[in-house]
Amino acid sequence: MNVTNTIEAVRAMRWQNPTATWGLVPTMGYLHEGHISLVRRARAENDFVAATIYVNPAQFAPTEDLSSYPRDLARDLALLQDAGADLVFTPDNALMYPAGFQTFVTVEGVTAVLEGAARPTHFRGVTTIVAKLFNIVQPTRAYFGQKDFQQTVVTRRMIADLNFNLEFIVCPTVREADGLALSSRNTYLTPPQRAAATVLSRALAQGIVLLNAGERDGDALRQAMTAVIAAEPLARLDYLSAADPLTLAELAQVGEMALLSTAVFVGKTRLIDNMPWPSLTAVTGGQ
Ligand code: PAJ
Repeated sequence: MNVTNTIEAVRAMRWQNPTATWGLVPTMGYLHEGHISLVRRARAENDFVAATIYVNPAQFAPTEDLSSYPRDLARDLALLQDAGADLVFTPDNALMYPAGFQTFVTVEGVTAVLEGAARPTHFRGVTTIVAKLFNIVQPTRAYFGQKDFQQTVVTRRMIADLNFNLEFIVCPTVREADGLALSSRNTYLTPPQRAAATVLSRALAQGIVLLNAGERDGDALRQAMTAVIAAEPLARLDYLSAADPLTLAELAQVGEMALLSTAVFVGKTRLIDNMPWPSLTAVTGGQ
């Protein structure tokens, strides 16, 4: 496995064999089984796999956890090696945002709601760094997690609108045995908070149960899920949504599919989760 912090080295390896296929897994590090599931899928579907580790300042608001975001490069590299990555790109801020940098990629519409409403500058940071990583690596396929569902909607929009020449693949959320979605931010939770954090998946699962039982009223679904979160004293609801998975607009009535999603503060830690209905493949068009 090659580890580099230069664009030249990435390009040299990427273009050694121009007909080889490359899978790209962008990450912010502090890797867990969710990230590694993307690397394994990329490993199975491509000749070579590149992962990137970069905590991107542009996607954090000044009030957010940029400086405390967990980091452990040595452990990340060992996990990537085990999962079969061929190349790891670990750029620094001076390389990604050199003096004079003034170009940003902004997706409109689908960034206005949910995470975008709660974190107004977040997606501009994500799409800018993802566009740069796509241009640097020029992968055949890019692998993203369902865990950040809106990020997949926004990135897919950018890929289409800016004609990036790659296949976009969304992989299912990996969870702990009790339902909590794996996240680097779970490390911030104290033991009581960690126990309370199952409230996100419990609320969403309740929504799925109701949908499967025939409930189609958007407000009824949102209220039932909100009640689950309200019953957890350590949790404070940020938003809860039953939306169209393509436009992310809130649904009055559920038709063929829905995306249930929520953001919840547990102490100072903000956690997100989502469940697509009837399934991930149904809402992402069969990937
Ligand atoms: P990060 O939060 O490190 O996540 C990297 C990738 O891993 C994302 O595609 C994310 O959706 C996926 N992922 C995280 N937790 C997961 C889980 N429990 N199951 C499955 N996949 C999971 O998302 C980012 O970094 C950044 O915004 C990035 C795209 C790297 C741009 O900076």
